[in-house]
Amino acid sequence: MRISKSKRLITIILVLILSACDINNQTDNDRGKIRIQTLADIEQAIQLMTLEEKAGQLIQAERSRISYSEITRYNIGSILSGGGSVPQGNTPEAWVSMINQMNAAALKSSSGIPIIYGIDAVHGNSNVKNATIFPHNIGLGAANDPDLMKAIGIASAKEILAIGVDWNFAPAVSSAQDIRWGRTYESYSEDIQRVSVLAVPYIEGLLSEGILTTTKHFIGDGYTTFLTGENKNLIDRGDVTMSKEAMLAGNLDAYIAAIDANTSAIMASFNSVNGVKVHGDPTLLTDLLRNELKFEGLVVSDWEAIHTIAPSLNEQVALAINSGVDLLMQPYNWKDVYKAIIYNVNNKKISQERLDEAVRRNLVLKFEAGLFDGEVLKEAGEVGTQASKKVAREAVAKSLVLLKNEAILPLKKDIKIYLTGPASDNVGIQCGGWTLRWQGETDSDLNNGISLKDALYEVLSAHGGSLVSDPNEADVIILAIGEKPYAEMHGDTDDLSLDGPLSLKDNLKAVEYVKSLDKPILTIMIAGRPLLIDPYLNDWDAFVMAWLPGTEGNGMTDVLFGDKPFQGTLPFTWPMSNDQASHNMNMENYNLIKHQFKYGDGIVP
Ligand code: GLC
Repeated sequence: MRISKSKRLITIILVLILSACDINNQTDNDRGKIRIQTLADIEQAIQLMTLEEKAGQLIQAERSRISYSEITRYNIGSILSGGGSVPQGNTPEAWVSMINQMNAAALKSSSGIPIIYGIDAVHGNSNVKNATIFPHNIGLGAANDPDLMKAIGIASAKEILAIGVDWNFAPAVSSAQDIRWGRTYESYSEDIQRVSVLAVPYIEGLLSEGILTTTKHFIGDGYTTFLTGENKNLIDRGDVTMSKEAMLAGNLDAYIAAIDANTSAIMASFNSVNGVKVHGDPTLLTDLLRNELKFEGLVVSDWEAIHTIAPSLNEQVALAINSGVDLLMQPYNWKDVYKAIIYNVNNKKISQERLDEAVRRNLVLKFEAGLFDGEVLKEAGEVGTQASKKVAREAVAKSLVLLKNEAILPLKKDIKIYLTGPASDNVGIQCGGWTLRWQGETDSDLNNGISLKDALYEVLSAHGGSLVSDPNEADVIILAIGEKPYAEMHGDTDDLSLDGPLSLKDNLKAVEYVKSLDKPILTIMIAGRPLLIDPYLNDWDAFVMAWLPGTEGNGMTDVLFGDKPFQGTLPFTWPMSNDQASHNMNMENYNLIKHQFKYGDGIVP
């Protein structure tokens, strides 16, 4: 059993305390027929279920496109929130109320099987207002601290439980090989060994608090070739055009480690391998994942990913399920998918055995989430806790990478600083994509976060220093530049320069302005990947990469003023030019090529 004993005890106490609530007043005849108390009960449950009830359990619909009565009518197994899809008010209370009502509806279905709710809490519970937003994975790759990863898993789990959700679509174990990919920041590193070392403790942290995990995207998502992207994407959801053996050599270890760590589920990947879509490839989803890697958990498809694997919906559903998908993430056309499952089973395109195997994995997943424990009501908790913020602040400090320092760092706390640049004072930019909205926000005060400017002001004002508005009064200039928020294919780019399509509009203007001031310059980059700085680096006395640090901007000043040491090292190669964007430590003759910075670089004491 993966559910912690403390969670079970809390569950039992909750059931007793909440016995007055309506849901628990549902008399047995309000409830569907299935009762599951042990894993062994699952087999009997499957025998009792009709084809329609089984079909419903293989559906994951989006919360905004299904009613409570439809959850009942169709025995729906799972609901998800797409990025930014939140209940009115977006408070823990609103989430818990929504999920409790969904479960009340599910218990009234003919099967009476509760739903399981999944979200992308990929850097803290980043859908939720006032939640703590942790650094994105690329920064955690730079921190390269397994103990920290476990702490982040635990802290994130607490803020997921606070809204009544049991299942997180994380971690991504993508090992991005070309930083023009819009999901580079969701990748810990170009080095699969660093990915494996960091993903495992994060999984352990989530599981230890009772949150189920999803290791994704199986397999090869970071290995697609530039200009092969799906639907005119430059690279996202593209084709892996190297040998399958070479792709596996760069990806498999993270899945082996995650399976060994008992990851609850695996999400299939949009990409194809040598022209064959993963979602329709039984050699990967069954032969490799099940027969070789012995993964016994659930495989969930990605968002409408089956639509590209076969001509008709009936064929897409049959191919996906027969290839090894157990739960179909079909946010909008879930009713048609429900009918397609029934059609395919009735026409022997999906065997009864395969259907039952998929249902079994869904029921085991829910059992592991403790969802059959007395159909407990969820109770709202707290997000944005001081405990979470403390972990996030530590993560920010450990993620910063010092790449140049000509005697201006650590900063003294009583000096005059002139701060400028488009990334100076914007928490939304610090958080990046997958924050409140799928594509992120440029809300300067997002989730009560602390911007770089807020953090500098806090330290300087307490020690006799100040932020000055006249650069001529300044001892040091701090220049903050970077990227705007983006997610997935919207972050694909063919131009990593400071005035590229995803770079902040005023980067270059600020770079040119500070150069004219003839003062010591510390440049801080807040971005989801390395950007091209070769033309400017010589003008800077110090340079720090801060990645996408999230809401706890004071983690940056902890190291800038020397209260904590720099420990970050580059998890990705830093290119000199766009032509080097696909360069990484796995390539031949890597050390013979001049890059801006190498994988693993970073000035540490
Ligand atoms: C997205 C992503 C996946 C995410 C899913 C649900 O398209 O590929 O990482 O978990 O949809 O939001």
